[in-house]
Amino acid sequence: MRGLGRQYHWKDINERIYKKFKNTTPIAGFYTFTTRAAFVMDLDVVKDIMIKQFQSFTDRGLFHNERDDPLTANLLFLDGERWRVLRHKVSPVFTTGKMKFMFPTVVQVGERLEPACLKFINSEDGSGIVEAKDLCARYTTDVIGYCAFGIECCSLKDPQQLFYIMSKRALLENNLGSLGVAFRGSFPKLARRLHMKDTVADVENFFLGTVRETVRYREENSIQRSDFMNLLLELKNNRVIKNETGDEFVNLTFNEIAAQAFLFLVAGSETSSNTMVFALYELALHQEVQDRARAEVQTVFEACNGEMVYETMSQMKYLKQVIDETLRLHTPLPVLNRHALEDYPVPGHPKYVIRKDMPVIIPAICLHRDEQYYPYPDVFNPDNFTPEQVALRDPVLYLPFGDGPRNCIGLRFAKMQMMVGLSLLLSKFKFTICERTPVPMKYDKENFMLTPEKDLYLKVSRI
Ligand code: HEM
Repeated sequence: MRGLGRQYHWKDINERIYKKFKNTTPIAGFYTFTTRAAFVMDLDVVKDIMIKQFQSFTDRGLFHNERDDPLTANLLFLDGERWRVLRHKVSPVFTTGKMKFMFPTVVQVGERLEPACLKFINSEDGSGIVEAKDLCARYTTDVIGYCAFGIECCSLKDPQQLFYIMSKRALLENNLGSLGVAFRGSFPKLARRLHMKDTVADVENFFLGTVRETVRYREENSIQRSDFMNLLLELKNNRVIKNETGDEFVNLTFNEIAAQAFLFLVAGSETSSNTMVFALYELALHQEVQDRARAEVQTVFEACNGEMVYETMSQMKYLKQVIDETLRLHTPLPVLNRHALEDYPVPGHPKYVIRKDMPVIIPAICLHRDEQYYPYPDVFNPDNFTPEQVALRDPVLYLPFGDGPRNCIGLRFAKMQMMVGLSLLLSKFKFTICERTPVPMKYDKENFMLTPEKDLYLKVSRI
C-alpha cells in the first residue's frame, strides 16, 4: 500500500495486482496495511461470492459505531442481522412505483440547471466557463436534500446554502484524520470499543437536527410529500411491517431514519454527481457522441411537448448508453468489499480457502478496463452498451452498482437523477473543452471514490 493517497489511487494498486496475477490464479492474497485480504479475479468466484454463496459473504466488515456515531448505523456499513432487517425495511422505498412518485420532484430541481448555466454564459467576462464538479454537486445535493431530508435546498441558485456547505463537509471531513481512518479500517471492532467516531460533531448535529425538525413539522402538520422522507416516515408510523417472506419487523426508530437519510446523501450525491461530471467531460471530448445524444433528447422532448414523465427516460436509449459507458470507464466505486463469515473452500479450486473474517476485494474497475472483455478499454465508446453487446457479455463484467442481495439499493434513483440532469442540460447547452480542462483525466488520489483530481472546467454555450 506504499504511496496510497500520494503517488497512487486505490485503483492503481488494484490494477497493479490484477495485471500481475490475472492469468495465474483465481484469487491473489495481499495486505491492506496489516490485514490479509483476498483479491478475487476469477469471474465464477466473483459470482459465487456476490450471488450464489452470498450467505457466507453478507457483510462488508466496514467500520460503524451505532452507539457513539449514530449516522454510521446505515445500510452501507451495518452487517449481519441489523443489515438484513434494515434492508428489508428500506427496500420498499426504492421500487419503480416510488421512483415514479418522486420523478416530478427531480425534474423540478433539474429545471434549475438552466438558469445556473446561464449565469456562467452571462457572467461579466462572458467566457461561459463552468466548473462542472460544483455545478453537478449542487444539482444532486438539491435533489437529495429535497427527496431525503425534505429540505428545499436551492444551492443551484445560491451556492452558499447551509445544507450544501454541510453536505460538502460531510463528504470531505473525518473526525479521525488519516491515521485514525487507517486504524479503524484495519481494526473496526477495536475502534468501536475505543469509542472512535467518523462524523464530525457539527455535521452530526446539523443532520440530526435537520431530520428532527422535518419529522416534527410533518407529523404535527400531517404533511404528505412525494419524497424519501415521507416513505421513511411511513415506515416509522406503520404499526406492522412484513417482508415478502412474511417476517414482521419493528418500525424504524428516529436514529435509523436519520442515518438512512444521511446515507442517501453521502452514497447518492457524490457518486451521481461525479458520473455526470465524467459524462459531460467525455461528451465535451467526443462532440459526435454529444450531438447524437442531444438529437435523441430533443426528439423525445418534442414528442412529449416538454412534459417529461418517468417513462420518457426509457426512450433515451443512447443517453443511457452514454451513462453506462461513463460508469464503466470512470467507475465511481472502483472496488467492492465483502467479508468472509466462515472458512470458504473455493469451489473448483481445491487449493484455495478464503479464511473466516478475511476481507474480500472485488476489483470492479479492473474487470471494466480489461481488454479481454472490452476492446480498447481506455477509449470512451457508448457502443459497448448497445443491447447486442450487452447480450454477448457475462453480466458480472459490469459492476458499477455491485451485484447480488447487497447491491446498490439506490440504483434506480441514481439513474433517474442522472438521466434527468443530463437530458435537461444537453437539450439546452453545448459543452466543449477549454484551456483549463484537464486532458487526460487525473483522479484525486486521496479519495477512495473516483473523482477528478482538481476542478473540472468546461465551456458551456447556448444551443
Ligand atoms: C451513480 C450513482 C451510484 C453508484 C455508482 C453507486 C454505487 C454503489 C455500489 C458499488 C454499492 C456497493 C454495492 C455492492 O457492494 O455490491 C452501493 C451501495 C449502496 N448505495 Fe449506491 N451508488 C450510486 C447511487 C446511489 C444513490 C442515489 C443512493 C440512494 C439514494 C444509493 C444508496 C446506496 C446504499 C444504501 C447502498 C448500500 C446497500 C447495502 O449495503 O444494502 N446509491 N452503491
